[in-house]
Amino acid sequence: MTSAHKHVMLYLDGVSVSFDGFKALNKLSLVVNAGEMRAIIGPNGAGKTTMMDVITGKTRADEGQVFFNGDIDLRKLDEAQIANLGIGRKFQKPTIFENLSVFENLELALKCDRRARTSLFFRLNADQRARIDEVLNIISLPGQVAMQAGSLSHGQKQWLEIGMLLMQDPELLLVDEPVAGMTDSETEQTADLLRAIAKDRCVVVVEHDMEFVRRLDTHVTVLHEGSVLAEGSMDKVQADERVIEVYLGR
Ligand SMILES: Nc1ncnc2c1ncn2[C@@H]1O[C@H](COP(=O)(O)OP(=O)(O)OP(=O)(O)O)[C@@H](O)[C@H]1O
Ligand SMILES: [Mg+2]
Repeated sequence: MTSAHKHVMLYLDGVSVSFDGFKALNKLSLVVNAGEMRAIIGPNGAGKTTMMDVITGKTRADEGQVFFNGDIDLRKLDEAQIANLGIGRKFQKPTIFENLSVFENLELALKCDRRARTSLFFRLNADQRARIDEVLNIISLPGQVAMQAGSLSHGQKQWLEIGMLLMQDPELLLVDEPVAGMTDSETEQTADLLRAIAKDRCVVVVEHDMEFVRRLDTHVTVLHEGSVLAEGSMDKVQADERVIEVYLGR
């Protein structure tokens, strides 16, 4: 990679991953530019989650290149180092602390911040309090700040977890199936939330809910059998015969 690629946030080239001889990723190539939001769709087993595993260092690529933010070679780094670079990942199941309040969850996420000095005697400064308030507004939970996280609705729990990731101010946010199990109204709000978040950072969203993906109003990549089948606007990929055959027409 050269300095000409500095605007590239995520660069995958020819990435393959095999599990017992089965190719979960098969020469996958994908470029996501800085400031871009990308939706990834595709049938079960297409390799969407495996792709996120490779980016975050959870799974090693057998071959191919994986670069972040221009020229940072992610294949040389472990999971913790990759997280510290500013890559946040939202798993499907929320991993919030149910017994703590919404505020405490966000506070805890701040303590794990790579830039904050972690300490037993950690106290919030004014900037950090302001950041918590800001994130509470972004995730539409200012009214629930004192509520125990376990009492939130499923959708609100997902937003809280996204909020916890935002406390770390990631440059790239990876989100895997955020709206599974949400009500229609929560699904719509989540699309709007991710669009708001994507104004300040790069967001990659995997989802099966096509109404939701349409509402994201962004570039879509279709994965199939571990590689890219189609790419473009939602209208373009929805009209693609191959996409209809393997995915949308089911
Ligand atoms: N750790 C693993 N060991 C063995 N096989 C795996 C492993 N992880 C993924 N696979 C296989 O790799 C393929 C791709 O899985 P992956 O989870 O990436 O698909 P996906 O596109 O995320 O599907 P879904 O939409 O169902 O979440 C599947 O056939 C899966 O069974
Ligand atoms: Mg998956």
